[in-house]
Amino acid sequence: MATPHISAEPGDFADTVLMPGDPLRAKVIADNYLDDVREVTNTRNMLGYTGRYGDTPVSVMGSGMGIPSMSIYAFELYTQYEVEKIIRVGTCGGISPAVKVRDIIVAMGASTDSSVNRTRLDGDDFAAIADYGLLEATVNAARAAGATPRVGNVFSSELFYNPRANFFDTLKAHGILAVEMEAAGLYGVAAETGKRAVSVLTVSDHVVTGASTSADERQNSFQEMMQVALEAAAH
Ligand code: HPA
Repeated sequence: MATPHISAEPGDFADTVLMPGDPLRAKVIADNYLDDVREVTNTRNMLGYTGRYGDTPVSVMGSGMGIPSMSIYAFELYTQYEVEKIIRVGTCGGISPAVKVRDIIVAMGASTDSSVNRTRLDGDDFAAIADYGLLEATVNAARAAGATPRVGNVFSSELFYNPRANFFDTLKAHGILAVEMEAAGLYGVAAETGKRAVSVLTVSDHVVTGASTSADERQNSFQEMMQVALEAAAH
């Protein structure tokens, strides 16, 4: 039975779903990294695929941009399709001076200006955190790939174009590694549904230093991140 936003049948998704923001990126991942791939959903063009990475069944589906879009898809995958693990694979803007473009960031926690997790806790703060086992698996996979992952707190922003004065300075002063737009939503849904999640991100640009990546560099860091996410999925 399909959900309002996913046209797949029960059993169409693997236990683990990789989620890039862009649905066409989900197709690229399925075509290039998975075997025996089939499309399982295309409602609103939010494409989803299931295949195999080695012996491990893996699905990949777009999340769209922002906490509301991610929350809808993650909730339906966890509650209607028996998905146990979601690994977000995305990009982020560097905030901390310790972070460089092309770095891999594993979001141990996700701060946010969104009210979704406060809504869940009747107004109280919620520490939106990754699943520890998945976090460990991604960090180990990154190290095995020769990368030095940065592990810490990211900020899941509601506004890409944020008018707040000193916004990035405030985040930097609190040790935030990078800004993105989905992790706090994904972690909240995982907590609510008793499931597991982690976010692996590459730094596409640095919002404080202004450094950015070339198309080639983006492609290389994307490949490194995918290797990390898929190895963690197979773990
Ligand atoms: N802000 C929010 N999300 C992002 C950014 C950013 O600067 N860069 C990549 N994802």
